[in-house]
Amino acid sequence: MFIRSFLQSLVDMGLLYEQEGQYCNTEMAENFLVQSSPLYQGGWIEEDTGQNSRWNTLTSHLQKERPDALAFDKAPRTNFIKALGQRSLRGEIQGVTKEIASWEKFSKAKTVLDLGGGHGLYAIALCQINPILQGVIFDKPHVIPETDSFIKSYDFSSRLTAVGGDIDNDELGEGYDIVLISHILYKFRKNMPHFFKKVRNTLKPGGLLVSNHWFCSPGCIPANGLLEMDKAFLSFGHPLCYVEQFAGLLEQSGFTPISSKDIASTFGTSTLHLCLKTETAADLSQIQPTSCCTSC
Ligand SMILES: C[S@@+](CC[C@H](N)C(=O)[O-])C[C@H]1O[C@@H](n2cnc3c(N)ncnc32)[C@H](O)[C@@H]1O
Repeated sequence: MFIRSFLQSLVDMGLLYEQEGQYCNTEMAENFLVQSSPLYQGGWIEEDTGQNSRWNTLTSHLQKERPDALAFDKAPRTNFIKALGQRSLRGEIQGVTKEIASWEKFSKAKTVLDLGGGHGLYAIALCQINPILQGVIFDKPHVIPETDSFIKSYDFSSRLTAVGGDIDNDELGEGYDIVLISHILYKFRKNMPHFFKKVRNTLKPGGLLVSNHWFCSPGCIPANGLLEMDKAFLSFGHPLCYVEQFAGLLEQSGFTPISSKDIASTFGTSTLHLCLKTETAADLSQIQPTSCCTSC
């Protein structure tokens, strides 16, 4: 009794079309809602709107004085990492990859480190377009099985390795041509000099550091409340502040910025900074406290 109106509501939403009394998936439903599709978004829709969504517990989030201090191996959940991979495929990875590929030395780059890489799709995408590139996706040990399953599903086990550890306390390797940091600085914003010193040590001189992060608008005044809330939930309470000081912070940390660009991402734009490791070491004493924190 209900099925005709149920199906019609899916037609109204553009998810089905009717043909001679039969209902079929539209191209949109086929691409984004069928689990076997490479562009499947169901995991992200579930994270954003389902039981684990922070919107479900909004009041308690508004009343919190600081982000939850979850145990090292309790966050992020592996389902979240899987969903994040799906979300990143909505154009952000494509935008970031295109910019990295336009670096003049990209075709000669042989090694990449995707730090806090989670799903590893950034490193996977770079390997897809550079046949001599190999690398490491570094993340917390409990995330590694999920990273491995992404590497296997894209058939890159011979060129990419998932390594478990703690960015704060473990060795990260050295001699890389490219190091990627995407959406991980929020957590390290209180100690940027230490973080960038470690990152710098992983690169060859002249190697490329790629940073992809959300920043607040100048003055930290939200332009769109709902989008800003979503970003706040996903960036330990706040995107990074002071985008105008970020290039200076990179310079003081021993890098030469070569470009900065807005990349279309799910909750507005993220800012991509590309910079090269300089020969001379960082002068950390020059770093201003405001730029170290990158949060107001
Ligand atoms: C928001 S996700 C970003 C994933 C991916 N880079 C992207 O942009 O989609 C942050 C990642 O950093 C990892 N991470 C956070 N703190 C870490 C630490 N101390 N050591 C290793 N990985 C860490 C998390 O496990 C998670 O996979």
